[in-house]
Amino acid sequence: MTESHKTGASAVDEPAVGRPARSFLEVRDLRVHFPTEDGLVKSVDGLSFQLEKGKTLGIVGESGSGKSVTSLGVMGLHTVGQYGKRKAQLSGEIWLDGKELLSADPDSVRRLRGREMAMIFQDPLSALHPYFTIGHQIVEAYRVHNDVDKATAKKRAVELLDRVGIPQPDQRFGSYPHEFSGGMRQRAMIAMSLVNNPELLIADEPTTALDVTVQAQILDLIRDLQKEFGSAVIIITHDLGVVAELADDILVMYGGRCVEYGTAESVFYEPQHPYTWGLLGSMPRIDRAQSERLIPVKGSPPSLINIPAGCAFNPRCPYADVPKGNVTRTERPELRDVGAGHLSACHMDKTDRDRIWNEEIAPKL
Ligand SMILES: Nc1ncnc2c1ncn2[C@@H]1O[C@H](COP(=O)(O)OP(=O)(O)OP(=O)(O)O)[C@@H](O)[C@H]1O
Ligand code: SF4
Ligand SMILES: [Mg+2]
Repeated sequence: MTESHKTGASAVDEPAVGRPARSFLEVRDLRVHFPTEDGLVKSVDGLSFQLEKGKTLGIVGESGSGKSVTSLGVMGLHTVGQYGKRKAQLSGEIWLDGKELLSADPDSVRRLRGREMAMIFQDPLSALHPYFTIGHQIVEAYRVHNDVDKATAKKRAVELLDRVGIPQPDQRFGSYPHEFSGGMRQRAMIAMSLVNNPELLIADEPTTALDVTVQAQILDLIRDLQKEFGSAVIIITHDLGVVAELADDILVMYGGRCVEYGTAESVFYEPQHPYTWGLLGSMPRIDRAQSERLIPVKGSPPSLINIPAGCAFNPRCPYADVPKGNVTRTERPELRDVGAGHLSACHMDKTDRDRIWNEEIAPKL
């Protein structure tokens, strides 16, 4: 982490394998690979970042870039339950509050899950059991980590349902997941994930399935709760606009790797990577006709099995042919500091980047 970088997260760290982390959450060179009949799927391939308590990191990228696999990795969920079947190969280091989780025994990671770290899943129905009432599930989540009687746990559950904006929480305590609307289910899951005041909260596309008004309410709620509990929060989304407002820092993922990282302000207002330009250009704008917007990122994400040498974005990059000195096409661009802790993995030099951004991209946004 550079001296000039003042926010809570960083996408690089010193190469000090085994050194205890200095940040609340420190992920070092995380790799999550899945052996399949077609070959090894490298879903996450060398991701590093840091996050402090009270700060929010936004992870952005299009579908299949490895966002959910990263969060399941941090939560230790590739080795349990339904995820166990996936036979993931994990390597790297995940330090949470001074403990390294990848080498820890699964039982101790399970004890941390729900208490010290919790996750709001992309699809609330996958996290809520259909046969038990919402209230019962929150009570159980609380009692796993707290030695309290049912009445005390119920009081806590009702309090949380109220806190996340569920009307008449006393009565809704006894409802089943299918009796809730999508927005209410998402709130119920947020209540469940917060019941033990987790210090790390991962929200994986918490609003994707919801309408715009409810989306805004849920995001406000996460922001308020974070202020209240002082947790470290990772918000995962494909929508740069969401994280620009909520996050302190943004990490842009492409093909299982970080291609750009910086403060939310710098990534949103002065992005330095052609893929991030594309993401910005594809954001919906109500004040512009479709024809006036930049064209969204053309083409499809790279194969995670046969990742080509060189820049993974090359086949889709409109600037692949801009001369890059002696750099060959097979040379992979590493993350480089392009100013004040802002990192970008692109071979283009600053003069070209600035010219393209100022003359071609920014005027169209
Ligand atoms: N068990 C598995 N076996 C093989 N490949 C997998 C497995 N789980 C995930 N993948 C692959 O890893 C890649 C990353 O998946 P991931 O779910 O992290 O994407 P994502 O960025 O969360 O996308 P989305 O925005 O659609 O949620 C995908 O190509 C996916 O097919
Ligand atoms: S390295 Fe080349 S292909 Fe890759 S993003 Fe930069 S300009 Fe585009
Ligand atoms: Mg996902």
